[in-house]
Amino acid sequence: MPEHVCPWWIGYLLVSPLRRLFYKPELIVAPFAKEGMTVLEVGPGMGFFTLPMARFVGADGKIICIDVQEKMIKSLMRRAAGAGLSDRIITRITSGNSLHVEDFTNCVDFALLFAVVHEVSNQEKLFREIYTTLKAGSLVLLSEPKGHVTLEDFNQTLKIAKQIGYDVIASPDIKRSHSAVLRKNKNLGNV
Ligand SMILES: C[S@@+](CC[C@H](N)C(=O)[O-])C[C@H]1O[C@@H](n2cnc3c(N)ncnc32)[C@H](O)[C@@H]1O
Repeated sequence: MPEHVCPWWIGYLLVSPLRRLFYKPELIVAPFAKEGMTVLEVGPGMGFFTLPMARFVGADGKIICIDVQEKMIKSLMRRAAGAGLSDRIITRITSGNSLHVEDFTNCVDFALLFAVVHEVSNQEKLFREIYTTLKAGSLVLLSEPKGHVTLEDFNQTLKIAKQIGYDVIASPDIKRSHSAVLRKNKNLGNV
């Protein structure tokens, strides 16, 4: 799988009002991020989806944001502070080889992977680590940009996820994207 991390300055484009013409982040995450939830977001960039999710989970919820780029996380936290949402957001900067989420085992209600998986070199490890953080039956929204990811590559990603123990339960229609909702299989323990 290719390894290419989007440059930090692209982060500004990703949170620009122009992007909202194509994506309404609130509509995309509303079915998943609910009051009081703990959400894991891998590759949040500057927080296009993080801030809406932080509003949805409310004061009792948490968004755990893990990114490889410090500049993305710093900008995300500046935006969160401006919106009065910093206390609901936990951030972590990773090397890219591991999410280092052992301390979140079995506590995540929903995970968001938006336009990030194609940038990760070891997808199997990524899905395995996320799997350990999820409560049984928890959902993952996976969405990859058609401009960077072929349908064949997306199907390969789904195959990896299924081998680990996720069920693919839906294919939401998100503009310019290949998207799927995965569910941690209730009958499997942690792998
Ligand atoms: C194309 S941006 C998408 C940002 C955000 N999800 C959005 O849609 O606005 C991809 C993000 O994933 C991050 N990223 C790339 N590889 C990663 C990895 N192995 N672990 C965590 N984050 C990663 C990048 O630094 C970047 O912030």
